Amino acid sequence: MKIKCLHIKSFSFLKLNKYYFSSSISSIRNIPPRIEEKIGESIYKIPNHPLNIIRNKIFDFFENEKFSSMRSKIPNENKFIIKDDFHPIVTKKENFYDLLVTDDNETISPKNTYYHDDNHVLRTHMTAHDVQMIRSGLKSFITLGDVYRRDSIDSTHYPIFHQIDGVRIFNYENLKEHAYSTGIHNSNSELSESTLNEIVRDDLKFILENLNQHIFGEVKFRWVEAYFPFTEPSYELEIFFNGDWLEVLGCGLLRTRILDNSGLDPKKHVAWAFGIGLERLAMKLFDVKDIRLFWTKDQRFLSQFSDGKIKKFKPYSKFPPCYKDITFFVPETFCENDLLEIIRNVTGDLVEDVKCIDTFTNPNTNKTSKCFRILYRHMDKTLTNEEINIFQVKIREMSEKILNLELR
Ligand code: DAH
Repeated sequence: MKIKCLHIKSFSFLKLNKYYFSSSISSIRNIPPRIEEKIGESIYKIPNHPLNIIRNKIFDFFENEKFSSMRSKIPNENKFIIKDDFHPIVTKKENFYDLLVTDDNETISPKNTYYHDDNHVLRTHMTAHDVQMIRSGLKSFITLGDVYRRDSIDSTHYPIFHQIDGVRIFNYENLKEHAYSTGIHNSNSELSESTLNEIVRDDLKFILENLNQHIFGEVKFRWVEAYFPFTEPSYELEIFFNGDWLEVLGCGLLRTRILDNSGLDPKKHVAWAFGIGLERLAMKLFDVKDIRLFWTKDQRFLSQFSDGKIKKFKPYSKFPPCYKDITFFVPETFCENDLLEIIRNVTGDLVEDVKCIDTFTNPNTNKTSKCFRILYRHMDKTLTNEEINIFQVKIREMSEKILNLELR
């Protein structure tokens, strides 16, 4: 496979971990120790953690009989099975190809995805487990876990976040029976597949609106057509909350090829699926403005929340920001996510935001330079200039050595 953007020559001199960033130039492995250390931390299992509170609310909705009238009007003899302990390393096939994500899709590139080796990645979404769950014979299930993406650095992005995926499979015969018995359709004419699919799509929308009401209270909804390689039709749901439209989930009907690949006859079955990002919901619900806070061990954060209660977070302090600029000449093949990875590795969670504030190509030399503004802010104390300068030196050093960037 051709790898477009992995300019990381060799991280071995970092001596961070002996097998990490193998010195082999051809190695695709790009999971840094800082990410690796966090695998298995399962912050969504910490009692009273905002992510745990949302998780419980969602599980409650799917498991608890109390909410049965809100769940689905189509009888379900199979209870939702919940799995939240799958290991996040999955095969490239499970994460992408089984879901009809093809090699031309940017997300497959090691620029955007953490590779464990040529054939394994840190899952980029929980949908990666859907095919295996369907193959195991389950008809309705929910999976929850940590997902990983090489992404920008700002207050709403963190390389690890959490998602819930849900799937329900319907049998056309049962759907027909339901449609006749409830009078959705009169039995004189044959029900077409597309009418049955519409019934399933409406069921999906009904459930997801109710689920969001269960989480957010009375809110307005807006359905937006979307595209996902694995569903058709596909939608996103937006809710109006605290004066803003907020995109809360993606969903749709699984493509017939996926059912077929999962061992189900698509002539006899149809399935809906959805995926929800937990941090996005938690940030709005609890008024947490900086995504890094979900990882803090500071009791001043955790002690503010308690199970079952949605309560606004009161920032215990906001320490002053410190801005530093770094300017490099960059090669044509420069990959911004590689630089961000170095910044994360050097600084841990101390950087709140990184923006490219200037790009300039010298017409005489044809050389391009980029200036990045790094915002440092510790969540629990004030950083000194000396501390930050050490990071700056290290970032420069590594960018030169690893990414071949030339300092200006
Ligand atoms: N996996 C998608 C993402 O990470 C979210 C999603 C969309 C999941 C549609 C689904 C779905 O199961 O049907 O953006």
